[in-house]
Amino acid sequence: MPISPKTKIHHSVVIHNEDLINLYDCTINKYTQIGPFVEIQKNVTLGARCKISSHTFICEGVTIGNDVFIGHGVMFTNDKYPQSTNTNGKMQSRKDWNLIKTKVLDGASIGSNATILPGVTIGKGALIGAGATITKDVPNNKIVIQNNIITGDVKKTGTHND
Ligand SMILES: CC(C)(COP(=O)(O)OP(=O)(O)OC[C@H]1O[C@@H](n2cnc3c(N)ncnc32)[C@H](O)[C@@H]1OP(=O)(O)O)[C@@H](O)C(=O)NCCC(=O)NCCS
Repeated sequence: MPISPKTKIHHSVVIHNEDLINLYDCTINKYTQIGPFVEIQKNVTLGARCKISSHTFICEGVTIGNDVFIGHGVMFTNDKYPQSTNTNGKMQSRKDWNLIKTKVLDGASIGSNATILPGVTIGKGALIGAGATITKDVPNNKIVIQNNIITGDVKKTGTHND
């Protein structure tokens, strides 16, 4: 699978298997890591130090901040009412549908197999549970499961030097 010539990838980015990803005309910032079988479409920007796990799809219209974790098989969307053909019965072209933008803010994490409907903002440091379907904005630092259900606050884990 290809990495298109217009894709901008910082030299520190780690792509675990370049033969098994599909990146076209997107921008990927420093130290970000990308697993196999990931597709990232044109005009997507990924921040620094993100981890994108295998089998995830990030479509046009999505912007991802810094320090974002995306689990396995996470699906973003950008067309709320998708259709194959237009009113004339012809295959749809880009002018037949509205692209809706989505944002994932710094430090957020998205569990495996989550689906993110278009137009939402996932807040800073928020954590989306595995298998969730997110249709509404997620507040900063909240844990959300299933269909927009807030279950608590994220407590940052990991090693600290202070
Ligand atoms: C959402 C999440 C952070 C919750 O963790 P937690 O706060 O420790 O919650 P608990 O495990 O104590 O579960 C609390 C309740 O929520 C339920 N629950 C937990 N995660 C859930 C999820 N993703 N979807 C639906 N229900 C979930 C549990 O079954 C439990 O239900 P109960 O009270 O009826 O017994 C975690 O379960 C999760 O989904 N993490 C993402 C994992 C992932 O995808 N990692 C990707 C890389 S491998």
